[in-house]
Amino acid sequence: MKSRRLLLAANWKMNAAPKQALVNAHGDRSLNPYHPHSDIDVVVFPTVLDLRSCMDAGLVVGAQCGHAEALGAHTGDISMAMLKGVGCRYVLCGHSERRTHHGETDADVAAQVVAALEQKMHPVVCIGETLEEREKGHAEDVVKRQLKALPLESDITIAYEPVWAIGTGKTASAKQAQGMHALIRSLLPEDRQEKTRILYGGSVKADNAEELLRQPDIDGALIGGASLKPEDFAQIVKAGEMVTAES
Ligand code: 13P
Repeated sequence: MKSRRLLLAANWKMNAAPKQALVNAHGDRSLNPYHPHSDIDVVVFPTVLDLRSCMDAGLVVGAQCGHAEALGAHTGDISMAMLKGVGCRYVLCGHSERRTHHGETDADVAAQVVAALEQKMHPVVCIGETLEEREKGHAEDVVKRQLKALPLESDITIAYEPVWAIGTGKTASAKQAQGMHALIRSLLPEDRQEKTRILYGGSVKADNAEELLRQPDIDGALIGGASLKPEDFAQIVKAGEMVTAES
């Protein structure tokens, strides 16, 4: 039974927006699976260069990252305030690729989340353990530590993305993912437990989306590779609609 509205989020990373996503197709969803749907939320996270064209095509957009400070000497960065200014409604915070390649710490991620909330943008905060951490039996401790830094009393979305499942084709099994999502939910403040959406990310594809989305504590997906292929993303959206219609 789905008590929370599903959110399907397409993270295009450092790739061009798929041409089909830029077709303005408010009326005909078969032409553009990325456009807003009535029963589920669909959000795309393009590079900043494609934000405008995605908005012009009628898509709901988010940024892949944002700096916590409003302005200043941060070469190459873009602030949450600036992202809000160009029309972003969502922002990813703490994606593992940012944590690993840009040295973002739990404290940096928390500061970004606070800045996004101040700008009235909705943060989708990524957490998840590496393969090494999982093999050492530390997966739950890592997730707990990453969560502890966050303003969990606020209206945010969590994305559990085990690093070992990102871009590898190795998805967490539906049971593994559900177990971790249930743990994450139990760690939220009591009055947020029923409201906060927890997405799963890591090799979500057309053929595993339905089983993942059927899990009671999985409220959507953050999709990388498969979201760049319109026909695959359309299948994932279809799975989300089916699961929603049945609940
Ligand atoms: P893949 O779906 O390519 O594994 O990427 C997941 C991800 O990192 C989404 O943010």
